[in-house]
Amino acid sequence: MEYSGLWLDHKPEGAVLPDIGAVYYNSSARVVLTAARELRDALSAMGAAAPELKLSAFAPERGVYLFEGGGGAYTDKDAQAYEIEERDGLIRISSETAQGVLWGAFELIRMIRCRMPIEGISKRFAPDMPLRMLDHWDNTDGSIERGYSGRSFLFKDGEIIINERTRCYARLLASVGINAIVINNVNVDDNAVRFITGRYFDSLGKLSEVFAGYGIKLFISADYAAPIDIGGMDTADPCDKRVAEWWENTAAEIYKALPEFGGFLIKADSEGRPGPVTYGRDQAEGANVLARALKPYGGIVIWRCFVYNCHQDWRDRKTDRARAGYDYFKPLDGCFDDNVILQIKNGPVDFQVREPVSPLFGAMPATNQMLEVQIAQEYTGQQRDLCYLIPWFKEILDFKMRLNAENDTVADYISGRACGNKLCGIAAVCNTGGDYNWTGHDLAAANLYGFGRLSFDTSLSAERIAGEWIMQTFGGDEKTLEVVSDMLLSSWHTYEKYTAPLGVGWMVAQSDHYGPDVDAFEYSRWGTYHYSDRNGLGVDRTDSGTGYIRQYSEPLAELYGNTETCPDELLLFFHHVPYTHVLKSGETVIQHIYNTHFEGAEDVKRFIDAWSSLEGRIDRGAFERVSERLSMQLENAEEWRDIINTYFYRKSGIADDKGRKIYK
Ligand code: GCU
Repeated sequence: MEYSGLWLDHKPEGAVLPDIGAVYYNSSARVVLTAARELRDALSAMGAAAPELKLSAFAPERGVYLFEGGGGAYTDKDAQAYEIEERDGLIRISSETAQGVLWGAFELIRMIRCRMPIEGISKRFAPDMPLRMLDHWDNTDGSIERGYSGRSFLFKDGEIIINERTRCYARLLASVGINAIVINNVNVDDNAVRFITGRYFDSLGKLSEVFAGYGIKLFISADYAAPIDIGGMDTADPCDKRVAEWWENTAAEIYKALPEFGGFLIKADSEGRPGPVTYGRDQAEGANVLARALKPYGGIVIWRCFVYNCHQDWRDRKTDRARAGYDYFKPLDGCFDDNVILQIKNGPVDFQVREPVSPLFGAMPATNQMLEVQIAQEYTGQQRDLCYLIPWFKEILDFKMRLNAENDTVADYISGRACGNKLCGIAAVCNTGGDYNWTGHDLAAANLYGFGRLSFDTSLSAERIAGEWIMQTFGGDEKTLEVVSDMLLSSWHTYEKYTAPLGVGWMVAQSDHYGPDVDAFEYSRWGTYHYSDRNGLGVDRTDSGTGYIRQYSEPLAELYGNTETCPDELLLFFHHVPYTHVLKSGETVIQHIYNTHFEGAEDVKRFIDAWSSLEGRIDRGAFERVSERLSMQLENAEEWRDIINTYFYRKSGIADDKGRKIYK
């Protein structure tokens, strides 16, 4: 096999398989049939007799009955809910939609694999968010921007790949409740610009079919300048009638060929991408022209808020990249059409290991919002270092914006609970590629699994998700569960310990963003500075600095604005402080830097010992692949430790009070 089936592959030894003679279903909708087949295949793969599949308008006495209640919009989260009930040998899985039935079937499979009791169950499962999406940054030449697990399995040499692996991928995503996919990079390449022309309709249609069979909508990243680049026009000005008409005609063509098409993801006016600003128009005017073209067909526009000035100067202490999203978008609340969703990165800068939550969440109550996280570990170890991100995503989702609302967490704002909006959700920049194990590091698959599970049910704990994933990937051996779970759950903090301290971010190599290089970005144009000098470090974002704190509600601005109350882990994001500043932990900043960097590298040694103790308990291939990654991680952690400690020892002239050797 050229690729693994990940958590759907493992054959659970000793699991009690329910006695299912047949799987009945009341509807021959394509996705319901998928559900029936998945159940049959999973049961026979687990060693049970393969059940027969039978269409039946009535519930049978025994077996599994899949019941689809009559449809509903794919963005309606109530319609996506499903119920599982067991009584006297009959397991009934029901939902208003075919997708709900499919997720119910996967729920049952998960329950069996995780040895959860099924007898007597009666439970409703409803997603928290209507849209649960993966954003691929794949290019049509087969490369992947920030890809750490091989070449693309979606594209090669300008063409779309459709094969058994594509179907396996759709199964994996559906099994954790993901219902939308953007297939290409937000930095749209020359071929992908033509996805909206007849050149690609046929292959896009086939790809869309594969995903639709698993209840997943297909989206593409589109090029804002397409009216010029492929329309041959002299402008892409959203307020020019000819441009609007061009988009309308283009949308009509797309939907004629691809009736199930989801819509566009757009990166505009960012890092050199074209956008409405070129024409003196704002982001809402820019988004709405596309939204109006897609509207008659039910299409949506997902418009990224990652808009900032990427030509900054370190001497200018007022311009602040962290401010940009809010400054651009907040004044436009209520100006976006109802089929536009703003996609906001979790933090105000760029997927660092620690950032405050973006102040845009909840700040635009009259605008649809969704959260963008990154499971591609661009700044969190690039799938060489272990970094299970679900605890971090939990903190983000549970974070209260303190906007005087009853439902005030980030999860509330992106689920529709806070503002009653129907279009909202969560997207992850994806971590999969053509490697055998899909994610480079075998344990990074827990981020893909966890992202889907958490998006569906934000109340699940990071521990529970880790446990489920381990059981389905490596089986139910107690020791394996304990060891892998400990490693996963501590890995984000470990990574944070040996990289940039106390929320300041960056300090990475400029070329590929991996490995330490403290000053690589310090004098660059990207607006990502730490301002270390002989006295101290950190960015002043209070009133005496960039004023960024004022983008938060009053209580949060107060909290962050004061070094006494600012959480230690974000101190250097908000403040420039001396090395001798004493943290709440009682340590000085400089001592904290030394301690955490020594500890981080020690943690990785412990991971190595812990993992070695599992030899013989888990699959040989996985064991060796992970061992190899862990030794790469140790090298990386030691390099970070030495470079960071040396840099700050030299800058501050303050010795480690534990007298450890600091050198490089
Ligand atoms: C990061 C990343 C880029 C990407 C950008 C984005 O800056 O390094 O590769 O294009 O984010 O989110 O658009």
